[in-house]
Amino acid sequence: MEMERVQVIASVCAANGAMPPEFIRSEHEQPGITTYRGPAPEIPVIDLAGADQDQLTIAVAEASREWGIFQLLNHGIPGEVIRELQRVGMEFFELPQEEKENQTSICLQLSVFKVTCFDLCGFDRKVNEHYGKHLACLVDRMLMALSRGLGLGDRVLKEALGGVGLEQLLKINYYPPCPRPDLALGVVAHTDISAITILVPNHVPGLQVFKDEHWIDVNYVPDAAIVHVGDQIEILSNGIYKSVLHRTTVNKEKVRMSWPVFCSPPGEMVIGPLQQLVGDESPPKYKAKKYKDYAYCKLNKLPQ
Ligand code: SIN
Ligand code: FE2
Repeated sequence: MEMERVQVIASVCAANGAMPPEFIRSEHEQPGITTYRGPAPEIPVIDLAGADQDQLTIAVAEASREWGIFQLLNHGIPGEVIRELQRVGMEFFELPQEEKENQTSICLQLSVFKVTCFDLCGFDRKVNEHYGKHLACLVDRMLMALSRGLGLGDRVLKEALGGVGLEQLLKINYYPPCPRPDLALGVVAHTDISAITILVPNHVPGLQVFKDEHWIDVNYVPDAAIVHVGDQIEILSNGIYKSVLHRTTVNKEKVRMSWPVFCSPPGEMVIGPLQQLVGDESPPKYKAKKYKDYAYCKLNKLPQ
């Protein structure tokens, strides 16, 4: 019912050009006012083709220290596997309402122009597994580069995140067209709770990152996967890597969609700064706690 509400509200207001007040953000959040219009740097684009392990380590570590986000080309997930994932997601949002509700858990924040579904049980299991397998390989490569970038062994970060217990959760975000994209947001500013998030978008831009006090647009790079460093990697690295602050805008005419996979440690895993990175010169900047407790505090806006 709720999902229908956002899709219906969106189509009604697209038809008459009106904007329901609950979607209007405060002035310090409105993208029309707060998006940086000057010449902005682009988020790093890293091409995995032909990069050896050392080059990859340097590029990934630098992007994760400076930005906490980067785009990956030649990431090893075959184009047809991504297109299948996208096709299944797009078809899902076109289904009649009851069918959608039978197939998924839906998450909705009423004040943003977004519908998210996850645990899509009717979702083509084969597509999901196929994508998940390729994604897991990519996550391993990223964790290895990040681990080396801290001067640690290849497997240290992955082990600290639960090793083979590392969990993947696919969500599908659907952002309906919005008559006043200058006033609304698809997702409000946040950092991801996960260790790492790997996302593929459709061709409609909308992701913005906060860098040097400015909200800047992330360009759409065809065939790229977008890697977000999440809170758990920031914590393990004792702040050397940054969990990226980001948000999304919406589009006046076009539907934007994105397919993020959140990779997180098991709930019982205790995550704190790696002991190899802590010493007299660099005291721990974060408390160690179980991932499930961290997630609970963050979702309920309680102090960590
Ligand atoms: C999110 O950060 O939650 C969504 C990002 C996106 O849709 O690009
Ligand atoms: Fe996010």
